[in-house]
Amino acid sequence: MSPKERIQEYRARVEEMLDSCLPDATLPPDRLHSAMRYAVLGGGKRLRPTLVYATGEALSVHPAVLDAPAAAVELLHAYSLVHDDLPAMDDDDLRRGRPTTHREYGVATAILAADALQPLAFKLLSAHPALLNRPALQIKIIRTLADACGSNGMTGGQAIDLASEGRQLDAAELEHMYRLKTGRLLRASVISAAYCADDINGQALNDLERFIDALGLAFQIRDDILDVEGSTEQIGKQAGADAAMRKATYPALFGLESARERADDLLARALTAIEQFGQEANILRAVAEYVVQREA
Ligand code: IPE
Ligand code: IPE
Ligand code: MG
Ligand code: MG
Ligand code: MG
Repeated sequence: MSPKERIQEYRARVEEMLDSCLPDATLPPDRLHSAMRYAVLGGGKRLRPTLVYATGEALSVHPAVLDAPAAAVELLHAYSLVHDDLPAMDDDDLRRGRPTTHREYGVATAILAADALQPLAFKLLSAHPALLNRPALQIKIIRTLADACGSNGMTGGQAIDLASEGRQLDAAELEHMYRLKTGRLLRASVISAAYCADDINGQALNDLERFIDALGLAFQIRDDILDVEGSTEQIGKQAGADAAMRKATYPALFGLESARERADDLLARALTAIEQFGQEANILRAVAEYVVQREA
């Protein structure tokens, strides 16, 4: 099976998990449940779950053990996107080629839907049958994801992002913001999967951290490049939205050319970090290349 097909398979697997763990849209409160499903299902690259499965594959972890972490990171990601798009934040109307959740359901329901997605992720981790006899692992993953989303993770990064609009950051400040707002959840995806491997050693864990830290930065730089270069149709979001909000981004502060160079350099670093992994890591390598070369 080609890496592309394998990635497709992982996407389908998490799609099914997400569909089954989300409340039925006909159950009350049905408008809230419908908004939760809208925010999560029907689009998205599913990069974070793919990283969970690909990391697990590199370490010979059975995919069933990875189902809950894979779905949980995507639920947390979806919640972060709903809030990111709100009028009080990036004020975006389009996401994944459709109206944003607040445009479809109203701001109040969108806030509540995101609020409910976050605990759903943690419930899934605490209740999924494949993890039930492994309480130490459950706690480690829950702590990893909680840290990744908190004030020293995604939420903190979002606060810095908002405070940086119209400001001139230096490269270190900008990359610090990227590491928090985007990098931490991507890192948590890889590290949670690594924890699922019973025999993971310190060196392998360290290599995977260096891999995903470089790739996480590259991912956000690519997102920023696509906001400048991509069309609205292609990226499924309003193109040029960062410039309109005077966001501090890599292309805005340092130019498109150096943004591209930095992303390529980070990809090379990421691949070097996992050089000593065998061919079981080929999917992970393919995902890394996709992150930097993607057109959407
Ligand atoms: C968008 O993430 C938000 C960022 C952190 C840049 P993705 O590009 O992974 O969004 P989806 O899930 O594919 O829609
Ligand atoms: C979003 O960054 C980061 C999070 C959602 C945590 P962006 O604001 O650049 O993401 P997009 O471009 O709206 O997807
Ligand atoms: Mg934002
Ligand atoms: Mg945004
Ligand atoms: Mg963006």
